[in-house]
Amino acid sequence: MASGGKKKSASKASSSRGKSSRTSAAKKPAPAPRKTGKTKIAAPAKTKTKKSAGVQASSNGALPAKPRTAKSPAVVAPAGPLTGETVLVFDFGSQYAQLIARRVREQHVYCQIVRHDLTADRVREINPKGMIFSGGPSSVYEKGAPRCDPKLFELGIPTLGICYGMQLACDALGGKVDSAPSREYGPARCQITAHGGLFTDLPADIDVWMSHGDQVRHVSDDFLPLARTGTCPFAAVRHRTLPIYGLQFHPEVTHTPMGSKILGNFLSKICGTSGTWHLGDFAEETIREIRKRVGNDRVICGLSGGVDSSVVAALLYRAIGPQLSCILVDNGLLRKDEEAAVIETFENQFHTDLRVVKAEREFLADLVGITEPQEKRRRIGHRFIECFKQAAKKISGAKFLAQGTLYPDVIESGADPDGPAATIKLHHNVGGLPAELGFELIEPLRDLFKDEVRQLGIALGLPEEIVWRHPFPGPGLAVRCLGEVTREKLVVLREADSIVVSEIRDAGLYRKTSQSFAVLLPVQSVGVMGDARTYEDTVAVRSINSDDFMTADWSRLPTDLLARISTRIINEVKGVNRVVYDISSKPPATIEWE
Ligand code: XMP
Repeated sequence: MASGGKKKSASKASSSRGKSSRTSAAKKPAPAPRKTGKTKIAAPAKTKTKKSAGVQASSNGALPAKPRTAKSPAVVAPAGPLTGETVLVFDFGSQYAQLIARRVREQHVYCQIVRHDLTADRVREINPKGMIFSGGPSSVYEKGAPRCDPKLFELGIPTLGICYGMQLACDALGGKVDSAPSREYGPARCQITAHGGLFTDLPADIDVWMSHGDQVRHVSDDFLPLARTGTCPFAAVRHRTLPIYGLQFHPEVTHTPMGSKILGNFLSKICGTSGTWHLGDFAEETIREIRKRVGNDRVICGLSGGVDSSVVAALLYRAIGPQLSCILVDNGLLRKDEEAAVIETFENQFHTDLRVVKAEREFLADLVGITEPQEKRRRIGHRFIECFKQAAKKISGAKFLAQGTLYPDVIESGADPDGPAATIKLHHNVGGLPAELGFELIEPLRDLFKDEVRQLGIALGLPEEIVWRHPFPGPGLAVRCLGEVTREKLVVLREADSIVVSEIRDAGLYRKTSQSFAVLLPVQSVGVMGDARTYEDTVAVRSINSDDFMTADWSRLPTDLLARISTRIINEVKGVNRVVYDISSKPPATIEWE
């Protein structure tokens, strides 16, 4: 994020996230796992471990258990840094903090985002191998600009400041930060003047991405310049005696092609990390943790067909096999064939105890006459919790509830006491089910990003269709059916959506787009079909590309593909005579229409 720029606006809140769980009608006894040729994930032998006391445990002891509040009931966040090597990313309000963390993990170094004002004492406890200060929208000289604990600089921990992070470090250690004569946003050519260290094995000139209003104008004699651009004399600096480095440009974005190399140099050459953190170890460690914690109790896992809950269920199945009960609620708002795909995977392939709840009638009855989007979400959320409670009651001995909460969910919701203070986005997933249900939460993906979850899913043997399925909102098609939601409209939307997705798949673009779907608008317009005048609905096609779903750009789909989608929808879906393509980015638009 540009230092000295504007803060990102908060995006909308949402009430329910269907991935958590839903209620059941047809209860079946928990089957013993069968080992057939089809089974990809072997269930374990029944664990003999004693009941755990339900205390939050961490495998490595690097981050001690923290007391939980009523709002964040008994959460387990299993595997931390298995190598004991953690890097902390201090978030100064940058939209790129998560991207930095991801880039660090890509180098096989475990990384966590923390609040910008984490105390030096707490950092000492965590004992990280390195610290990275993110960018941020403020100016360091502004009153109230976020600052770090100045004692951090005395810890002797290698530190890399990026953009605002660099300005902050320089300012704290005697440099002078000013408004740049001209703001610099976009590509720049950077000349490296001091090789080695951060810039080991890099050419003399590199392309970098700048995004700042301020820059460091003077540094004290304690700092050495390492690189410059035409307009920025201190594009990179290092402290003469302390292991403190700064980059004015953004190494974490792909527009700085050598950015990963620079971050890699920081991690290996300056922090001395070994780069041995692996997802496979994470899975094994997590499975051990789950077995230890669950003992002989039962775990309930809500399945939505999405990748997160599917990976959680697969992990749990590996860990505790027949002690797992999965619940899938057919709320009538799922995509075409979604329920069948979940049943095929979890019942027929993994032989899990899957309870499918047919609750379409109840959900749709709640939505009669409702057009206001938040009210739709609220009602769906309430019904979902009600259904869940009923289903859970029928599963005797269930002590734990497993949820597919991901690392960005935890960060965005502010649920991590060490995490960033500024909640950019209210999130739907964390704490999605009320604490009074009385379950202890198991959230084995709490430390992972979406792409890591996908890798884990593949490693656990989940089918590619599930692992690579585009994200889908918990309130389902209700979000994408504007105006009142009716069974008839859902049929139209489901068919149109299935055409969009299948055409994008056939064009080989499904994995290249991040989310592609249809939206049914409550807008009728005049058309002609044959010789007859029509007055029918409009379908909007939305396809976006995004790294983190907090910002997104519309996909530049080939016009031939758009033409095929449009023709097929109008010909094959009764009730639609017009198709439009959404060319809005986020922000200012959102990904979903509502
Ligand atoms: P927006 O529309 O806010 O969406 O740009 C950002 C991402 O969040 C997804 N989304 C949801 N996911 N429950 C979810 O699990 C929800 O209620 C929900 N609402 C939006 C959306 O599909 C996109 O990926």
